[in-house]
Amino acid sequence: MEPAPRWWKEPCAHVECSLHQLAPYIGKIKSSIAGDLIEQYSRRGDLVVDPFAGAGTIPLEAVIRGRRAFAADISPYARILSQAKLSPPRTLHAALNSAEKALLEAEALPQPDLRSVPHWVRRFFHPDTLRSALRFATVARQPGNEFLMACFLGILHHQRPGFLSYPSSHLVPYLRSKKYSRMKFPEMYAYRELKPRLLAKVHRTYKRFSKLCRVGATFCQSPVEELELPQRFDALITSPPYMNALDYGRDNRLRLWFIDPSLAENEDNDVTQRRKAFIEGIMSLATNLESGLHRGGYCVFIVGEEVRRSFKAHPSEIVVTLMNQKAPSLRLRKVITDDIPDVRRTRRECRGVKTEHFLIFQRN
Ligand SMILES: C[S@@+](CC[C@H](N)C(=O)[O-])C[C@H]1O[C@@H](n2cnc3c(N)ncnc32)[C@H](O)[C@@H]1O
Repeated sequence: MEPAPRWWKEPCAHVECSLHQLAPYIGKIKSSIAGDLIEQYSRRGDLVVDPFAGAGTIPLEAVIRGRRAFAADISPYARILSQAKLSPPRTLHAALNSAEKALLEAEALPQPDLRSVPHWVRRFFHPDTLRSALRFATVARQPGNEFLMACFLGILHHQRPGFLSYPSSHLVPYLRSKKYSRMKFPEMYAYRELKPRLLAKVHRTYKRFSKLCRVGATFCQSPVEELELPQRFDALITSPPYMNALDYGRDNRLRLWFIDPSLAENEDNDVTQRRKAFIEGIMSLATNLESGLHRGGYCVFIVGEEVRRSFKAHPSEIVVTLMNQKAPSLRLRKVITDDIPDVRRTRRECRGVKTEHFLIFQRN
């Protein structure tokens, strides 16, 4: 086992392509680490696969570095973010034009009746802000508008003035009415106009904009168990879900509701099911990867180790065992360990994941 390079711990938010900051995503990998893994385990022109793409960090770093990318994820929020990052408008000018057009289209829609909006969603917004957010979401949901939807979701909730909600946390939607009471901070509960906030968000997204290799970047929304991997690919670099430590549905519930209200209905907290799903997902991936991965090609799993009071689970041991059984032509070459370095990646109260293991396999 090797320790992670020291510079992996350094912050990268001020140097990374600002597309990475479109909207928050729980469990997101640092772009500097994703970029380093892509440099080390693939070459220019290679096809890099990420079947648990999440916010699209690994595929975006791949296309910035002249690779092709095949990304997939089960989550519709991951689809919006990944598609937005892999094919954004080519220039700031084009992005602003499409945002202005969508805002006009939204304004022409009839005023929505807030009585059809669930109470838990209404609690986050001034009624007039919510009406304009609902109309804009209707336009942003249209196919081809993923970049606009991603920008909108990126300003949906936070306590800062550039966001749409009442004071709330950014990553996970919790109202912060105790810290910022209506009495003391009435301005935080006033109407928030969408247009200036959305256009400012578009500007921020193009602040450091890298040139992308747009040829051959694809996203597929699918559970890994049903995913058809490309017939030939050169590297697979991915971070599977953290077994039972994170709940992507609950933590993204407000954003999911705006993508499609039916998505935010179920709360799935069944730990056993998610543990089973992790094992089944890795098993089907291990079974399918051997035939597609180029000889000599690398497969990198970034696996969160979880530590609970009642038991210790070792997802990385599970991955190694399943890979040995189902993909025997891949050999484990290296294991790198890293403390979870970035507070944005885990919920504060989540004590589960403490370290990550980078398991580096190579096909014979
Ligand atoms: C640790 S996150 C990936 C984070 C990503 N590397 C990033 O930087 O944003 C794991 C992802 O696995 C996805 N996921 C969970 N179960 C899945 C399944 N059965 N099939 C495909 N994706 C799944 C989740 O939606 C989540 O986006």
